Amino acid sequence: MPEQGFHPDQLRDSWGTYSGGDVDWRGGRSWSLVYDSPAWHAELVDDAAARFAHENGLSHSAFPSAARFESETISMVSSVVAPDTRTYGVFTSGGTESLMVAVKAYRDSTGRREMVLPNTAHPGYWKAAAYLGLTVRHIKVGSDGLPNVTELVDAIGPETAMVGLSAPCFPFGVVDPIEEVAAAAQERGVGLHVDAAMGGLFLPFLPGAGGPTIGFGPNVPGVTSVSVDLHKYGYGAKGASVVLFATRELRHHSYYVATGWPGGAYAASAVVGTRPVGAAAAAWTAVAALGHEGYQSLVNTVMDTARRLQEGMTGAGLQLVGSPPMGVFAVTTPGLELSAVASGLQRRGWWIDTQDDPPAMHFVVFPRHAAVADRFVHDIRDAVQEAEDGVAASGPQASYGVMVRGGEPTEQLLKEHLDGRFDNQGAA
Ligand SMILES: Cc1ncc(COP(=O)(O)O)c(C=O)c1O
Repeated sequence: MPEQGFHPDQLRDSWGTYSGGDVDWRGGRSWSLVYDSPAWHAELVDDAAARFAHENGLSHSAFPSAARFESETISMVSSVVAPDTRTYGVFTSGGTESLMVAVKAYRDSTGRREMVLPNTAHPGYWKAAAYLGLTVRHIKVGSDGLPNVTELVDAIGPETAMVGLSAPCFPFGVVDPIEEVAAAAQERGVGLHVDAAMGGLFLPFLPGAGGPTIGFGPNVPGVTSVSVDLHKYGYGAKGASVVLFATRELRHHSYYVATGWPGGAYAASAVVGTRPVGAAAAAWTAVAALGHEGYQSLVNTVMDTARRLQEGMTGAGLQLVGSPPMGVFAVTTPGLELSAVASGLQRRGWWIDTQDDPPAMHFVVFPRHAAVADRFVHDIRDAVQEAEDGVAASGPQASYGVMVRGGEPTEQLLKEHLDGRFDNQGAA
């Protein structure tokens, strides 16, 4: 801590210096992490986030603004995710917290301690299980990225608190067989959560972009809750997601409330206590500013770009995993070292996410990629050619959310990687 505070201009300069090494997402160089909307929209969303950065979403009595932003965002999302269906929502800080809240609801409503998931379900489910004392039964998916319905349903037993599916799953962008599994789970009296962190505000607009109609919300019989991130394809600021429960009772089980504390009654609808109203204001603004027309137009752009990219990549000899319906997909490099192709792209200035099983590069397409898709296809042809010519891989091994240096990402290495985020950071 400096003895005296720095001048604001110096600190603003530091923002520039510190972010100098950040991935160039504005230039469309990354395929994950930042979901961009047009400049006029992004600026409005930024304004909303900044305007309400200090208000506290913990107290809706003190801040009725928070109640309005959150509940109106929930109902706008619900109207497209589960049209004409009454749902009971909560507002959270993101996909992981939404899963945490949903898993708690199933644990506390059933008293059971097990969940059944395809192994492609996001680790946020696993994390919720670990924090809340549940065990996970993983069903390994096939080469199309999808679980076998019979195998999944057969895994439901007397201790099953819930089944968790994805729309779509992050690794391959494919949507689990929701209707079939939901019907079977319902027959067995077991609830089913759909993690639509990615697809919640994208899939409803897919038919308008020439894609299939895919049901995934509580309007599908047997789906008892769904989570949708506003900070992904909702184009809000970071820190915003909603869970829509099919019943008020299930939502009650998601809450944490306490009485008897000298500080007064405590009631929290999410894991965290103090929450930025800015994230809710930004989410509300993002949705209200785009409306159906705006989302449809962005989905059209993403789908058009995704198709161009996929054609370019398959034309260069790469292979899609399964049949991903939206702008999220993985490609393998048959006959070539994945790391050689990925590092060829990294050398050309692209931030490439890779995954292990099968070895593949992972892409999430954003509207900004429309302008760089041709450049990327050109570069991928060159990178493939280099890999065929035997140019060796170089650079770190990339994986989801982290960049691992120094070998296979074992649990110990990942913990040391996290230490590295906080240790030896130097002084301002
Ligand atoms: C399908 C899915 N679920 C959950 C999450 C976790 O979301 P968050 O990082 O907002 O906690 C992600 C993140 O990418 C995701 O893709």
